Amino acid sequence: MKVLLATQKPFAAAAVKGIEDILTAAGHEVVKLEKYAEQADFVAAVKDVNAIIIRSDKVTREVIEAAPALKIVVRAGAGYDNVDLEAATEKGIVVMNTPGQNSNAVAELALGLMIFMARTQFTPATGSELQGKRLGVQAYGNVGRLVGQKAKALGMKIHALDPFLSDQQIIDGGADPVHSVEELYAASDYLSIHIPALPATIKSIGYDLITKMPKGATLVNTARKEVIDEEGLLKALEERPDLKYVADVMPDNYALLQEKFGARVFATPKKMGAQTGEANVNAGLAAARQIADFFATGNRKFQVNK
Ligand code: 3PG
Repeated sequence: MKVLLATQKPFAAAAVKGIEDILTAAGHEVVKLEKYAEQADFVAAVKDVNAIIIRSDKVTREVIEAAPALKIVVRAGAGYDNVDLEAATEKGIVVMNTPGQNSNAVAELALGLMIFMARTQFTPATGSELQGKRLGVQAYGNVGRLVGQKAKALGMKIHALDPFLSDQQIIDGGADPVHSVEELYAASDYLSIHIPALPATIKSIGYDLITKMPKGATLVNTARKEVIDEEGLLKALEERPDLKYVADVMPDNYALLQEKFGARVFATPKKMGAQTGEANVNAGLAAARQIADFFATGNRKFQVNK
């Protein structure tokens, strides 16, 4: 089978080699499309491939329709909001992710961003410490749980909201359960967002929730920019000069936010939460193994479009 590794943001060399080794050992051919400039380059590259490994690369309906031999797409990572699941399902194409494989990298970055903001973006201005502060974790899945557990080691008090987990599961994961999003925001000096971008969550965090946060709070977004209602964020930051926003996902209105609020806001230029050698190897090799296994045995364990 022909497997395309399509990564606009390339994996570390060790991950690429590992992917090639696994797939060639299983009798497959690997072709690469890295750092491509245009979506059209991706569309052109899929015409004769049977499988694709992607990161945040956009598998649109156009990509799927340009790939008549395609059987499987594996998103090497957690969020699959970049794949048109409906179009894939219509063509009988299996879509998988590699849950948990890059979670530690994202969790470490979330904590790094908290420290960066607490310590005034590493300027000599007087900052504050994380110890003793309350951390709210919105969604206590693979990343959220790691953020909670690591923050606990820094002396933070952790509470979490997750509609898919029981109170006991949240307690076992090291956090106090909270039962409404309003309650979560109201009790969080730091609020770390780990919800996926779905129709129900897109723009779900806006003025009403953000202004529930206590004095001096920081909102930390290492999830997706789409879950923020950017107009609401702007209004909240305008009305509440004590609030801060930090994100691994640059908001569309970032230039305006920077102009108005300076060091109260910070966003990485390109999503980098999962951009460590370790995460690249974990997620990339998992993707390669899942493809090899799918073609060998039909294993669909991580399919997300069932
Ligand atoms: C994910 O959903 O796994 C992360 O957002 C990582 O995305 P990336 O592979 O584009 O860095």
